[in-house]
Amino acid sequence: MKPSTFYITTPIYYVNDKPHIGHAYTTILADVLARYHRLAGDPTYFLTGTDEHGQKVQRAADKAGMTPQQQADSTVVHFQNLWKRLEITHDDFIRTTEERHTRVVQACLQDLFDRGEIYRAEYDGWYDVTSETFVTEKDLPEGKKPEDLPNIVRIKEANYFFRMSAYQDWLIQYIRDNPDFIQPEHRRNETLGFLRKPLQDLCISRPKSRLSWGIELPFDKDYVCYVWFDALVNYISAVGYKTDDAMFAKWWPVNYHLVGKDILTTHTVYWPTMLKALGVAQPKTVFAHGWWLSGDAKMSKSLGNVVNPMDMIDRYGVDAFRYFLMAEMILGQDASFTEEAFVRRYNADLANDLGNLLNRLTNMTRRFCDGAVPALPPGELDAESADVRAVVLAAVDKCFALIHGMRIDQGLAEVLNAVKRVNKYFEVKQPWSLAKKDDKSELHTCLYVAAESLRILSSLLQPVMPEKMEALRKALGLEGVCSLEDLKVFGVFPAGREVNEPGALFPRIERKEMPVAPPAAPAVSPAEGLIEYADFARVKLRSAKVLEAEKVPGADKLLKLQIQIGEERRQIIAGIALHYTPEQVVGKTVVVVANLKPAKIRGVESNGMLLAASQGDQLRLVTIDGELPPGASVK
Ligand code: MSP
Repeated sequence: MKPSTFYITTPIYYVNDKPHIGHAYTTILADVLARYHRLAGDPTYFLTGTDEHGQKVQRAADKAGMTPQQQADSTVVHFQNLWKRLEITHDDFIRTTEERHTRVVQACLQDLFDRGEIYRAEYDGWYDVTSETFVTEKDLPEGKKPEDLPNIVRIKEANYFFRMSAYQDWLIQYIRDNPDFIQPEHRRNETLGFLRKPLQDLCISRPKSRLSWGIELPFDKDYVCYVWFDALVNYISAVGYKTDDAMFAKWWPVNYHLVGKDILTTHTVYWPTMLKALGVAQPKTVFAHGWWLSGDAKMSKSLGNVVNPMDMIDRYGVDAFRYFLMAEMILGQDASFTEEAFVRRYNADLANDLGNLLNRLTNMTRRFCDGAVPALPPGELDAESADVRAVVLAAVDKCFALIHGMRIDQGLAEVLNAVKRVNKYFEVKQPWSLAKKDDKSELHTCLYVAAESLRILSSLLQPVMPEKMEALRKALGLEGVCSLEDLKVFGVFPAGREVNEPGALFPRIERKEMPVAPPAAPAVSPAEGLIEYADFARVKLRSAKVLEAEKVPGADKLLKLQIQIGEERRQIIAGIALHYTPEQVVGKTVVVVANLKPAKIRGVESNGMLLAASQGDQLRLVTIDGELPPGASVK
């Protein structure tokens, strides 16, 4: 039987600009999945690269006063350096200007042309210069005419077309018959919705007189290939299509094409029909993830809110950045990036839970066992220790199952829950008290169980935080990485290993300022840590009436509110100004966290926090349904 190979790709990124957090995200996601598959022993191939032809790159080159090739050569370095910095373990990096790619594109074009799948025709119609696509009036924003839009121009020229329309019925049926083909399901429905309109043939050429930066059509020197036709072929040219049959048979069909939701149609309509016409098998899954938003807003250069991955890494380290991106985004939905959310999660999961567990374990091993992890005393484990073992072993299965199901956030939450369980184990067992007993067997069991748990849990986190988990394992006296088999057994920790000073693995980040209003709350995932009622009860939620509201000068997101809670009047700064005008909030009965420590935000005192629900770029205040005096407690 063929071993279960795993081939995964990222989109190839345009070299018109430096990479940003979105590019970093897809690439880290692919890296994490590739690493989990390697850990599971699957032969794995991970491809990324750059898309170097077309108008976007040509324009960037013109602006920079370079040739397009110079533009590509200088920009590709930023991607390659960033991938190094982010510990990306791709097996190949393809550039579409490489000969190994261009000749495969030409071979595909020739093949399709020879078989009549590509034909020449006169085109007379509208062209969108921004998206480089031919459009009809019904593709335009509602109520707009082509003449109203500066990016829409009239074009009359001969071009080459791929008979995409011929595959419409086949494609609809294929998508219906193969539920895994487009994931998540709402994206599958989106493509099926798109296919309800008649599919046009795809123009796959650009006359050189208009755009010369591309791969020349092998059957007409006056034309270059449309950038998307060229780019999509990278997924097969890199693994030996038409050049290395054995390699191609080994890796194709690809397991996952990871893409952002912006490029769904090209990957689930253009690409499958191209493959069908070429007689090549379909990808197993095209998975479209959502957007990273900056707070609640779309990241865009003009808004100046694009997150630069290099800045985040410089400030907080590579592994914490990787962890945040993986733990925070529910695959398929949009996610919000704010530094506050980053710091909150970092402090909670990494500094408090994981880092703290390692410190406690190594400290106690040094204090009570001369720095060597004790052997597990013979006999059955007591109930508490056995429960820890069960939780840790269950985390291995759950984590892998969730990762396979593309629920990365939940997989990580399972591991972090197990970490919390081991911390709780220390609270219950109180090894510092056990150390005072003459019989040390309970102490030894406790430290051994904790060390063994951390061996397993750190291995589960290794694909996400490779460097830090290696450091953690070194601190426990362990070398190398575990295989999946080693993770399924509890009790193989080599006793007697000397623990080392871990240093501050995840030093706590102290923030002078508390977050403004709640940044886009991620949807609650069921596997995330459950809390006790007592934990919830510590948060005092109260209804409050907004008496006055005004903008905070120089801070376009903030409103300064005077609110009444019972008899008390307070001032709160809330980050809602992009969603509410001062007039809209005055008079509302809202819900506030009343026992939050006061903080200064932009130098202005804030006494509490307003609750709001947000998703994507929308935000709505939580209000009271009906009449209640301000100050009522909310439970
Ligand atoms: N060159 C094409 C892809 C060709 S693939 C055959 C392209 N390049 S791109 O440079 O614009 O990169 C787009 C991809 O970057 C998205 O599909 C997504 O993977 C990633 N992201 C860019 N911005 C993003 C966010 N704000 N959030 C998450 N990912 C996004 O399109």
